[in-house]
Amino acid sequence: MSEPKEITRRDATKIAAGATAAVITGAPWIQKVKAANNQIQMAIIGTGGRGQYHIQHINGLDGGRLVAACDIFPTNLDKAVGISKDKPKGYKDYREILNRNDVDAVMIATPLYTHFPITRDALLAGKHVFCEKSLVHKPEEVHALKKLVTERPKQVMQVGLQRRYSRFYQTARQMVDKGLLGDVTNVYAQWHRNLINVPSNTWTMKKNDPRGEDGNWRLLSKFSGGLVAELGSHQMDIADWMFGSHFDTVSGVGGIDYFKDGRDVFDSVQLIFRYPKGQRLLASYISTNQHCALFGGTRAQFGEMIMGTEGTIHITVGTDEEPALGIWYREPAKKNPAPGTAKAAVASASLASTGKGAKALPILLSKDEVTDQDSFVQKELKFARRWLYSKGVMVPEEDRNPVDQQLIEFWDCCRSGAKPKADLEIGLSDSIAVILSNLCMKEDRKIKRAEIETMGNPDAKAPAKKA
Ligand SMILES: NC(=O)c1ccc[n+]([C@@H]2O[C@H](COP(=O)([O-])OP(=O)(O)OC[C@H]3O[C@@H](n4cnc5c(N)ncnc54)[C@H](O)[C@@H]3O)[C@@H](O)[C@H]2O)c1
Repeated sequence: MSEPKEITRRDATKIAAGATAAVITGAPWIQKVKAANNQIQMAIIGTGGRGQYHIQHINGLDGGRLVAACDIFPTNLDKAVGISKDKPKGYKDYREILNRNDVDAVMIATPLYTHFPITRDALLAGKHVFCEKSLVHKPEEVHALKKLVTERPKQVMQVGLQRRYSRFYQTARQMVDKGLLGDVTNVYAQWHRNLINVPSNTWTMKKNDPRGEDGNWRLLSKFSGGLVAELGSHQMDIADWMFGSHFDTVSGVGGIDYFKDGRDVFDSVQLIFRYPKGQRLLASYISTNQHCALFGGTRAQFGEMIMGTEGTIHITVGTDEEPALGIWYREPAKKNPAPGTAKAAVASASLASTGKGAKALPILLSKDEVTDQDSFVQKELKFARRWLYSKGVMVPEEDRNPVDQQLIEFWDCCRSGAKPKADLEIGLSDSIAVILSNLCMKEDRKIKRAEIETMGNPDAKAPAKKA
């Protein structure tokens, strides 16, 4: 990477500050409000934590408006109606929303066990559907939803796997495609939280919740896939994306080791997925410590590490407080001294003993790439930003939160009929990974992905009888 030595840090800061201002004033999301009839009329079903988060984001976007909201819990419904700038009509029963002809699309942000029945009813009512991850809960729902969506090619089915809409992750995938990481052999994923020191959270059993089991749905396996569904699903999808295939087998260890509060989902999980070319995803979900060794320990809880023969990427999405991050490390350059020579002995000895680290390089987004079309000033601004990134003074930032980007693209798909990036196939593959992970830990055995084909599938051929 070239560093423009003639620019001092002070100059660069001034220039890059100007560049930031330029980016903001020219931001693509500041658009003129489109005519109301070009907007997708949305209904949201499930207005708890995630539903309200989406409403706040919809408030700042153009291209869709909320005409209806539904929740069985009046407190959450009232909050949702109150925070939406569109003043949607509130409903207790989602089926009333599905009867409305003026609703084009529904967003489903309810607990996992309700995703399939609500998605099914919405599709049958002719609506486009955006459903939060993890898409479905049971094997039979994988097969039934595949059939339903395939029979309705004009209806959009998108899943809330927002990393697919992140410029950082898209850039990482391009780096994989261009061979910058060599052969990608391993992905490490972690999502670790400390629920012991942070007791006020949605992951410890609340005995006094007025909704009883409904208020603790994440902790009960009849409603939820636990840590693997709620956290791991995002990362299992990333491994599939970076490897460009689905896993062959999964094995793992799960336990209810620290939170004996009546839950029946694991509070601690380690999984190993093996992919067709021998690649591995190693994934860890714990509830007693939040340290993250990625990004030099500057971020906690979650992130993924994509490892190849030529390099490694540390990557994570942003939160409301922190930016997305992507850092690239190169492997030592290939050395091919003739075997048996003194040089070869030195090379192998140093490889074995030093374990020298590599310089951290920021992942550059396309807006930071210098092109022939750039003016002299644009080139200078880009070099300045890149120099600051490489010094750790600034970090590259996405133009838009992927949560917004996924919604904008969903609405575009509803208008154009295009296939979403996080489509049915991606959503179902992700659910298969979640379902089989939980099963392999419950049954304490290695599970082949192919087993899903016969699980809960009414169309599966019965195994041939032994003569
Ligand atoms: N993509 C992401 O990063 C992300 C982040 C958080 C949550 N989620 C997903 O969003 C979904 C909801 O999670 P949450 O944290 O908002 O849970 P939550 O418990 O805070 O909210 C769920 C809401 O759904 C309501 N509900 C339950 N059954 C209903 C029904 N039949 N009709 C209408 N409303 C119903 C509940 O009353 C509750 O208000 C989950 O699938 C979760 O995995 C995704």
